[in-house]
Amino acid sequence: MNDSLDALEGEILDRIQQSNSETEIEELRVETLGRKGRLTLLLRALKDLPSEERPRAGERLNQLRRALEARLDERLSAVKAQSRERALKEEQVDITLPGSRWERGGTHPLTLVIDEIIDVFWGMGFEIARGPDIEDDYHNFEALNIPKDHPARDMQDTFFVSDGRLLRTHTSPVQIRTMESRQPPLQIIVPGAVYRHDDDATHSPMFHQVEGFMVDNHIAFSDLKGVLTHFLRQVFSAETGVRFRPSFFPFTEPSAEIDIQCLICGGHGKAGEDQTCRVCKGTGWLEILGAGMIDPQVFRFVGYDPEKVSGFAFGMGVERIAMLKHGIDDIRLFYQNDVRFLRQFG
Ligand code: PHE
Repeated sequence: MNDSLDALEGEILDRIQQSNSETEIEELRVETLGRKGRLTLLLRALKDLPSEERPRAGERLNQLRRALEARLDERLSAVKAQSRERALKEEQVDITLPGSRWERGGTHPLTLVIDEIIDVFWGMGFEIARGPDIEDDYHNFEALNIPKDHPARDMQDTFFVSDGRLLRTHTSPVQIRTMESRQPPLQIIVPGAVYRHDDDATHSPMFHQVEGFMVDNHIAFSDLKGVLTHFLRQVFSAETGVRFRPSFFPFTEPSAEIDIQCLICGGHGKAGEDQTCRVCKGTGWLEILGAGMIDPQVFRFVGYDPEKVSGFAFGMGVERIAMLKHGIDDIRLFYQNDVRFLRQFG
């Protein structure tokens, strides 16, 4: 029995010495000293020994148990200390290294302009409405007094989707949708994306408009002039000259185009001594809005009585306003999302 105990002691001590993790050590503890451990079983077998051998054997086994327990504890704290040291070394942070910065995002310049436009109209009591980008022919054209095969359709060439639907060419269909579902008085603006078959430095197949309209019992052209003049002087400057020019839209009568004094040459039409201003092409004016009194025919389409209600409507291109405000000469810059461009508006 002594020989086999020596062998057991040697084996276990070796394995303790070679163990490198807390779990390994715990497994060894269970294997030798656990309830069914090898040493535990030997201790339990003591009672079967002849009584004269029992004391010596018992003493030897107990001494072995204490020795193994001590070595297990020792090894355990050594392994713990080692892994702590390793962790400290591996997780060391050099607080003198320069940090890595989070890039801060910013609002897109077009969103900034849309928000600014909304703000001014919000101040005059307008509410915001929206409509679908994919429209039907009726809301985009017909109810706006642009019949099928009418030459007025040439003004707005668009993209057709399946079953007669199309990408809206302007935000005006939201006038129709709103009036179909509500009764005057109405004071609404409609920001949104629109689509046209156009693509060059100043035209994009997708761009943004803000539409607006006011409908009530006695809305007059003077209301249109007042609201839009106030708006333009808020967005540009209080001194900006504003000009109303007769024009044509199928859904307004009379119609007007509204110009502001050129922001670049200040209205002189000249750049320097005797060069013409490139932005207003020498005219001194920049076209900025389409507008007019809502056509009686449009009121009939939505079931309003044109003898009882009147109203005005207007529409503007957001990109054009942003380009004029910031002196940007290529519309594509808005969509390329080059951070060097975008950062200038933060
Ligand atoms: N919908 C017109 C366009 O896109 C603009 C407009 C809106 C004109 C409302 C008059 C009234 O060109």
